[in-house]
Order: sequence, then structure tokens, then C-alpha cells
Amino acid sequence: MEALVVRLRAAAESARLRMLALCADGELTVTEITDILSMTQPAVSRHLKILAEAGLLIRFREGAWVFYRLADEGDAGALARWLVAACDSEGDARRRDIARLQEIRARRAEEADAYFQANAEQWDVIRSLHVDDALVEARLRAMAAAAPVQDYLDLGVGAGRILALLAPQAERAVGLDISPAMLKVARDRIAAAGLAHCSLRQGDLYAAPFEDGRFDLITAHLVLHFLDNPARAIGQIARLLKPGAMALIADFAPHGLDWLRDEHAHRRLGFSNDEVGRWVAEAGLTLAETVRLPGDPLTVCIWRISKPERDDP
Ligand SMILES: C[S@@+](CC[C@H](N)C(=O)[O-])C[C@H]1O[C@@H](n2cnc3c(N)ncnc32)[C@H](O)[C@@H]1O
Repeated sequence: MEALVVRLRAAAESARLRMLALCADGELTVTEITDILSMTQPAVSRHLKILAEAGLLIRFREGAWVFYRLADEGDAGALARWLVAACDSEGDARRRDIARLQEIRARRAEEADAYFQANAEQWDVIRSLHVDDALVEARLRAMAAAAPVQDYLDLGVGAGRILALLAPQAERAVGLDISPAMLKVARDRIAAAGLAHCSLRQGDLYAAPFEDGRFDLITAHLVLHFLDNPARAIGQIARLLKPGAMALIADFAPHGLDWLRDEHAHRRLGFSNDEVGRWVAEAGLTLAETVRLPGDPLTVCIWRISKPERDDP
């Protein structure tokens, strides 16, 4: 009872309800929330502190950035979701907030796209700065070989390297990317490799243009750290996998290289096993294995994720 009163008190303010509603749609930094609400940073920080102390928002620091997201577990998570659902999304303030959030996202997407456009040709060079590619790719190939693959999807295909690597193990393969510049490079690579059973699609992985349950294998290699809602991306993977099928997500373990944000458009500085495990479980999937490939200074993790068979409990 006492905890509920504390949480209700924390939420009982229109600015704080707006903050909860904003954070329900992805992880946001204090600066972004300040920008959206047109309030001063100290005022925003004070409200966020109250919401986080009441357990309605989760606060986490990564390098120089502090993120907030809606609580997703337990009674506080259930109450937070209920409060957000009860907010009037048609009201003037909410409509303005949503429009501002979309502007900020569009600006961020433009910045990321400009980065990818500028780096499309040299992408493989940049990538090899992180960790030994050959090691990661050998592990991906071995893990993907565990079962026959009819339909394979590579999310955030970039220059097409992982698609070209694993497509020979599949009957059909498709790569999806939001950036036309990256797709252009991928197209050249796929054609040069003579992979006639591969295709490329332009689109947003949050709304992947494929029907439910189509794929036996999905990969997302060094994509998650660009996203503002990795949990939602994992939800899409759950939707797109066939029952019993597998996804391989490769990304960095938590690190402190803040400069990757400014120079390489990274949003998140790696992911912990617990964090990925939680998102996977929320999406109804199973985290079957984590492979860690330590590098200097970045460690790559490959998370093998499986979708239960239809008749699994
Ligand atoms: C670092 S590159 C990795 C490319 C490739 N997976 C590889 O490892 O070679 C990340 C890719 O994710 C793509 N991307 C970022 N956000 C995306 C989104 N919302 N939907 C689809 N692709 C996205 C970018 O355009 C970029 O090509």
C-alpha cells in the first residue's frame, strides 16, 4: 500500500505523466527529454529523479550519457504501463510531445544516415578497428550451421558482409537496411559474389516489411548499439522467426568508449548479458547461449536466441 501511494504521488503531475509517456516509446537522455518538453534541465532532472526513485522509470548511466526508460518489471512496471495507457494521446500537450519526439528521432536518423553515407565504402575498415572479424565470422558461421536454413534475414545489412558470409548456408536470403547508401555497397558485394538467391530491401527494422514467422535464421551484427529501442528490435525478431528458429545478435559487451558516440554515431555503449536476457524473455524468446570474443578494447558478444516450438509450454 505504502509503495503504491509513493508511486501514485510521484506520477501525479502533468509534466511527470508526459515524461512517463515519452519514455514508454524507447530510451531517452535527459537532454532529449528537456528538448521535447521545453523545460529547464534542472526542472526535468528533478521530475525524473522523483519518477526513478518511485521505480516508475529506470535510470541508467553509460559513459557521459544518462538514459531513462519506462520500468518494465514488477508492480512498478505494471503501474507505469497502466498510467501511460491512461494518458490521453490526443490531448494538446501529448500531441506536441509526440511531434517533438518524432522531430528529434528524424534528426538523429539523418545524422546516422549521413554517417553511414560517408562511411559506406570504408565500413569494413572501420569495423575491423573493433575486434578480429575473422574470429567473429567463424563463430557466426559455425552457430548458423546448427540447423538447415530455408529463409535467412540479416537486419541492418550494411555493406552486406554478414549476408554474403551466411547466405551460402541458406536457400533464400534477404538483407534489410534503412540506408540506401549502405544498400548500394551491399548490392555490389552480393552481385560480385554471385549470390543470386540473395535480395536486399530498404526499410526500418522496427517495421520490417516481412510476414510473421517467415525466417529460420535472423542475424543482427553490430546494429543494436545504433538503436534507441533495442527491446523493440528484439520484439520484431520474435515476430519474424519461425517457431523453433534461431537469431544471432552480435554486439559489444558494455564498454566506456564515449567517443564512439560522436565519431561513429553509436547510441549505446554495449549491452550486458542481463539486459539482453531480459529483452529476449520479454519477447517470449530464450537466450540459449552467449559467446564472448574478447578484443582490445572492445569485446564482441554473440547472443544465440531461440524461439520456442509452437507446442512448447
Ligand atoms: C554498423 S552497420 C553494421 C552493418 C552490418 N550488419 C555489418 O556488420 O557489416 C549498422 C547498420 O544498421 C543500419 N541501421 C541502423 N538503424 C536501422 C534501422 N532502424 N533499420 C534498418 N537498418 C538500420 C545502418 O544503416 C547500418 O547499415
